[in-house]
Amino acid sequence: MTYLIANWKSHKTIVEAQHWLDEFSAPPHPDINLILAPPFPHLTALKQAASSHGLSLAAQDISPFPDGAYTGAVSARQLEGLVEYVLLGHSERRRYFHETHQDVANKVAQALSVNLTPIVCIDQPYLSAQLSAIEPVYWPHLIVAYEPLSAIGTGDPEDPSRANTVARQVKDILSVDVPVIYGGSATSDNIGTFFSQPALAGALIGQSSLDPHTFADLVKSSL
Ligand code: PGA
Repeated sequence: MTYLIANWKSHKTIVEAQHWLDEFSAPPHPDINLILAPPFPHLTALKQAASSHGLSLAAQDISPFPDGAYTGAVSARQLEGLVEYVLLGHSERRRYFHETHQDVANKVAQALSVNLTPIVCIDQPYLSAQLSAIEPVYWPHLIVAYEPLSAIGTGDPEDPSRANTVARQVKDILSVDVPVIYGGSATSDNIGTFFSQPALAGALIGQSSLDPHTFADLVKSSL
């Protein structure tokens, strides 16, 4: 299975999000799992339209805590039935919101407690510590996104064979053949070179997912 995940980050009002779904069209493919990660407030409103376009939903984050007195936090249980996936430990969360490896590990536990699949973002040089903080019992249930800091939003993607080497390293550290995807300045022009790497199982797309036609081109280039 190949995963193509559109990470909208803090972009789009609900009207812009609905317009994106009106415009987006890509041929369905049984081997490609298309996933949309919009901002929290849009998840409920977009669920039906996303599904009719063959898109599953992901949240961009969850609370490291269960339900309770945690003002402003969205718990995993509140997303149950709404999303199938959750992005965790994106480098922007680690950098701007000071999330620690242990915070991310706690979020993994929360996600899996309600059967949300965690898509855990990791980067060099911390990859080993980021993965090791997660309880080994959870490792077989992860999707791991390798997102080198030098490639995110820079227009300067990682060398695909290097991303493949890191994907192998992740599988070795976890001792499980989990899906490892790549993220960082992926476009319709370069996605094919990442998809041809044997250890990579997809991509996390930021900038190139914001326009529905650009993202549809990227999906078509992946088929
Ligand atoms: P980018 O972002 O495609 O804009 O580089 C990827 C990501 O941060 O998930």
